[in-house]
Amino acid sequence: MPDEQTPAHRSVVADIRANGPITFARFMEIALYGEHGYYSSLTTPGTDYATSPQMHPAFGALIAGYLFKAWQALDEPDSFHVIELGAGDGILAEDVLETISTGAHDDFADALVYHPLDIRPRGSTRPVDDFSEPTPVIGCVISNELIDAFPTHVFAIRNGEVLELFVDADHDSTLRFVEGHPSDGGITDRVGELAQYLPNTYRGEVNLAIRDWANDVSAFLQSGYILTIDYGHPRETLYHPGRSEGSLRCYQSHVLGQNPFRDVGRQDITSHVDFTEIDNALKSVGIEQMAPLQTQRDFLFDLGIGQYSEHLRRSTALGSREQYARRWMPELRALNSLTDTRGLGNFHVAQHRINAPNFDLLGLETSPVFPLPTLKRHHLEHLPYD
Ligand SMILES: C[S@@+](CC[C@H](N)C(=O)[O-])C[C@H]1O[C@@H](n2cnc3c(N)ncnc32)[C@H](O)[C@@H]1O
Repeated sequence: MPDEQTPAHRSVVADIRANGPITFARFMEIALYGEHGYYSSLTTPGTDYATSPQMHPAFGALIAGYLFKAWQALDEPDSFHVIELGAGDGILAEDVLETISTGAHDDFADALVYHPLDIRPRGSTRPVDDFSEPTPVIGCVISNELIDAFPTHVFAIRNGEVLELFVDADHDSTLRFVEGHPSDGGITDRVGELAQYLPNTYRGEVNLAIRDWANDVSAFLQSGYILTIDYGHPRETLYHPGRSEGSLRCYQSHVLGQNPFRDVGRQDITSHVDFTEIDNALKSVGIEQMAPLQTQRDFLFDLGIGQYSEHLRRSTALGSREQYARRWMPELRALNSLTDTRGLGNFHVAQHRINAPNFDLLGLETSPVFPLPTLKRHHLEHLPYD
């Protein structure tokens, strides 16, 4: 018998008993978003993984600066809507709004209408379906670590052919992969051409839900920008022969695991984002790329994080050793984690636009629009580890 069958595990098995082997995307849907799924039951943010907004409010302050520049580029409309998809517990929204309310740009503060939306809302976020503005709007659609959380299909290469891995249950309900022909033509469309270059043992993921997201984005936005931050790579790097195990990852209590069939519904499951597909899916709905794909580190430096660090370093020199250890060291460590290329700094940032002029940040390293905020209680719980 598996160690313990969680309620979500039992839901998966019931689905398989009723329908036969299911796609991994269906498994993920139940494991993450079903009645007993991980995101349906999540109560304490940051228990299993820590995201950039949870690390330091500088992230929200710099995104607020980005939004300010986007608003200016659009000729400062009276209403500027920010739709944050997958807003989770709403920390980014809170930090952006607090930054803007304490900043010196009243016209921008008056124009901004922020919509923190999530399919499994928690804290201050609202259900996506509750979005009640007459669409499309002028503004920005933003997301941080949304697309890696979409249910994905899993494929395998066998003698140059693309097969799909389905999830089946043994008589004792142990879950395992079984191979079959792809359930959706989109899988072969995405990776068919690459198959000849990939080794026979290769396993990877195809995120078909990116197309639905692109349709939603285009329905939301009449004109404006799309800012997408996540971990992942351009397609040729993501589906590289050297990554033959794919990119499925599970997180529980900050421990990285590889077995999605363990503790179903109690661990997060993610896969790396195919950023080429983001470009293609948005292009297919009339949305164009605005800037080359950047690392989060470069993006935040362009928005002025270097000056925040400098400001903190100068402050550390003024106080006592005790003040340094208690007050400044946590600030510096949390701030630095946003650009550390061994983690969050190596995430990628994609910028797109629709009916909106280019505002290229690349290599600008501007002064931040808003002053550096300090850690709040909701960030302190997520301090990075040594
Ligand atoms: C890894 S969490 C990231 C939360 C937050 N953005 C952050 O950075 O802390 C992913 C979030 O995306 C949400 N989500 C997944 N699919 C979604 C969809 N199609 N629309 C809106 N939210 C979605 C999940 O419920 C979850 O809250």
